Amino acid sequence: MTSALLLHRREGRVEASVSEIDESRLPEGDVLLDVWYSGLNYKDALAITGRGKIIRGAWPFVPGIDLAGKVRTSGSEAFKPGDLVIGTGWGLGESHWGGYATAQRVDAAKLLPLPEGMSLDKAMLAGTAGLTAMLAVMELEAHGVKPGGGEVLVTGASGGVGSFAAGLLHAAGYSVAASTGSPDAHDWLRWLGADRIVEREALAAGAARPLDSGKWAGAVDVAGGKTLEAILASLKRHGAVVACGLAGGHALHTTVFPFILRGARLIGVDTNTCPVPARRQAWARLARWMTDERAEHLLADTIGLGDLAAYSERLLSGAIQGRLLVDLRK
Ligand SMILES: NC(=O)c1ccc[n+]([C@@H]2O[C@H](COP(=O)([O-])OP(=O)(O)OC[C@H]3O[C@@H](n4cnc5c(N)ncnc54)[C@H](OP(=O)(O)O)[C@@H]3O)[C@@H](O)[C@H]2O)c1
Repeated sequence: MTSALLLHRREGRVEASVSEIDESRLPEGDVLLDVWYSGLNYKDALAITGRGKIIRGAWPFVPGIDLAGKVRTSGSEAFKPGDLVIGTGWGLGESHWGGYATAQRVDAAKLLPLPEGMSLDKAMLAGTAGLTAMLAVMELEAHGVKPGGGEVLVTGASGGVGSFAAGLLHAAGYSVAASTGSPDAHDWLRWLGADRIVEREALAAGAARPLDSGKWAGAVDVAGGKTLEAILASLKRHGAVVACGLAGGHALHTTVFPFILRGARLIGVDTNTCPVPARRQAWARLARWMTDERAEHLLADTIGLGDLAAYSERLLSGAIQGRLLVDLRK
């Protein structure tokens, strides 16, 4: 038997309960693994509360877009029993049962070996949020945003993606402006590497005019909506913003002026479908950074399966600073 968070859809509402499931009910896949850790991401919280249409598989459903554990049996040459593996994205917890189960069956193609220098819990402390932040930093680098070239803005800085982005950018030598709506997080963000705090409200109203004064050499944005509109209008010449999220809204109204008069770049990141070479590179860099003591302070709390529903509400209300680690053996 495996313990799992099972989501049922009843009369249009999503109900979550911890259930014992016979392992014969686990989905198809060539690797059976014991899951030790997962994480709670924004997308997971939307799935668990039913506030977002995340689940694309048949109901009932086991969510959790991240997992890390030990291979029990493998029909793939890529892994053998005892291997430590991680899985993020590729539809895990969306179209295929995910990480909120003590055992799971997954295709080998959705898994990677645990990166060198990382432990399973550290990998899930990062999870999709950390991977997204790392991919965003790599995109800024690839688009010519260099340390010393001006401030890089991070929005939603106290959240999972934002806090990782702030820490990673600081470690790479960038000057970081951290935008947050959480006054309690200011000191923590400064300690993490933010050179300056920007009030969330200063960006939330959108752009005052199509082109504002150039402030940001680059930006990692998890808010979307009017915040992204404001960032685009205030990018410096040839600046770049990586759009990662929609915590503030999914609509985007802008003009072509930042693009045609300043050469601004708007770059998307989809960690779910990120190709394997970039994933491997990002995980290797994350593993190196996570030996920094700052990384340990990104852990907000370690929770168990039974805590997921309550913590999903807290996460969506913006009350969590950093990351939530899910310990499946708790
Ligand atoms: N593209 C991808 O592949 C990818 C991957 C992972 C996540 N995401 C997306 O990135 C976003 C953040 O994910 P996460 O896991 O970091 O979530 P999270 O831990 O809940 O962080 C979100 C943060 O956004 C800020 N925020 C909340 N409401 C806001 C609002 N109305 N306007 C502006 N900011 C607001 C809060 O930070 P402050 O209080 O500090 O402002 C909050 O902590 C989500 O939209 C998620 O879907 C996308």
